[in-house]
Amino acid sequence: MKIIKPIEDLKSAQFILIPFLQDEVDYDLITEITGIKGKPDFSGKFKQINTLPGVEGDKTLYLVGLGKEKDLSQAHEAFRWISHKRNKAWKGSITLYLDHLDSSLLYSAIYGLVLSKYDIGSLKSGKRSSNSFLNNEVECHIYSKTYNESLAVEARATARTVNAIKALVDAPSNIKNPEYLANWAIDSGSRFGFKATIFDKTQLEEQGFHALLAVGQGSNSEPRLIQMEYKPEGKGDYPILALVGKGITFDTGGLSIKPSDNMHHMKSDMGGAAAVFGAIELAAKLKLPIQLIGVVASAENAVDANSIRPGDVINSYSGKTIEVIDTDAEGRLVLADAINYTIKAFNPDQIIDLATLTGSSIGTLGYTAAAMFSDNEDLKDALSDIGFETHERVWPLPLFDDFKSDLHSDIADIRNYSGKPIAGAITAAKFLEVFAEDHPAWLHLDIAGVAYSDSSYAKMKSATGYGVRLLTEYIKSIIE
Ligand code: BES
Ligand code: ZN
Ligand code: ZN
Repeated sequence: MKIIKPIEDLKSAQFILIPFLQDEVDYDLITEITGIKGKPDFSGKFKQINTLPGVEGDKTLYLVGLGKEKDLSQAHEAFRWISHKRNKAWKGSITLYLDHLDSSLLYSAIYGLVLSKYDIGSLKSGKRSSNSFLNNEVECHIYSKTYNESLAVEARATARTVNAIKALVDAPSNIKNPEYLANWAIDSGSRFGFKATIFDKTQLEEQGFHALLAVGQGSNSEPRLIQMEYKPEGKGDYPILALVGKGITFDTGGLSIKPSDNMHHMKSDMGGAAAVFGAIELAAKLKLPIQLIGVVASAENAVDANSIRPGDVINSYSGKTIEVIDTDAEGRLVLADAINYTIKAFNPDQIIDLATLTGSSIGTLGYTAAAMFSDNEDLKDALSDIGFETHERVWPLPLFDDFKSDLHSDIADIRNYSGKPIAGAITAAKFLEVFAEDHPAWLHLDIAGVAYSDSSYAKMKSATGYGVRLLTEYIKSIIE
């Protein structure tokens, strides 16, 4: 959708989308547009679609169910769904009839429609789509008294970044290695205006990123630390927010190897990194007045003669030594270095890390919410609210000191796994806490269940784009 524009009458409209809240369907309005008397079989249930012909047979009318008021945080899904189901028919222009609804629906509609353009099958051979909606040949017309251009533009920009992030998470690991992630950041930075600095293996060695190097030492693809800095133009006293992401481009488990049944999903073990990339790209696109630091620790956790072994003791950026009980608990190792480095190098006001860190977080919350850890109650409350607003939900779990002793090592400063099959998301967070060294505004999100999951748009599990909107709306909330 290159062109989004307001219109004042429906005369030339061909494909008209009219959304309704459940049980708030305005049948008179439908009759006015279609000329059809009598009530169509449509109650406005979430994602319900009803297709009607117009008066002269020259229009097609789509009734779109938004569900109840409480479903409005997911209204974009209704638009994504109708486009997924119907866009092959769309030519020329589509018209969004939004006059009867809250002005925020404009955002949901554009966001959802543009999300539907994501193509999970981009690696299939020999296909060029002749679908004019997907090829950006269809204009989007808005019929609404409250049309707000900047909201529409923001929704489109956000969806485009989310789609790019999904492509990155869904990309297979023979394409996507740490260097690929680094190049992605460089490219995005040069297109949208942020600085990307890459530490290669030699620089990581010189600077003492021992834990990141240890995780990557079994792979032919060397690890990278990807540092991104976004500053608004002009001078000003802006708060510094640091975002840190786990960027494991494939997690075999290492020598503590995973069972093979679901191992292919582990290409998505860089979902935290992807969310950080997305948030920084979008902040730069939208020119948000904040200083953002993004740090991604990227490595491949591979099985090899050079891989770290269970029982090995490694060093870390912080200087603390770590006994590696389980090489599959690699995310916390790379994050230990990234979090510690970020705090020391930038002294951020706030630091949020995102990681597909534990199966245990899925055991606890399923695929509904990220597990959230922090001692900073204000930060947790703010993220919790924004999680509900964006439907990228977070749910708190405790950082009780009762779990500290689980990470006791007799031979090193700490060990990376308790050896017990309980409270795994919490002990992982307790491990990270040590490397955040009492930062007063550190918050950890375990996004293992929400970054990559089943959906009605694909037969396999696929990327969700989780975190991009959550972080972006959070950033907007602190600068308000
Ligand atoms: N990348 C995994 C966590 C994961 C599991 C993400 C399922 C997405 C879906 C992580 O590195 C891991 O393997 N964690 C282990 C830790 C354990 C060995 C202490 C886990 O959760 O089992
Ligand atoms: Zn692992
Ligand atoms: Zn992992």
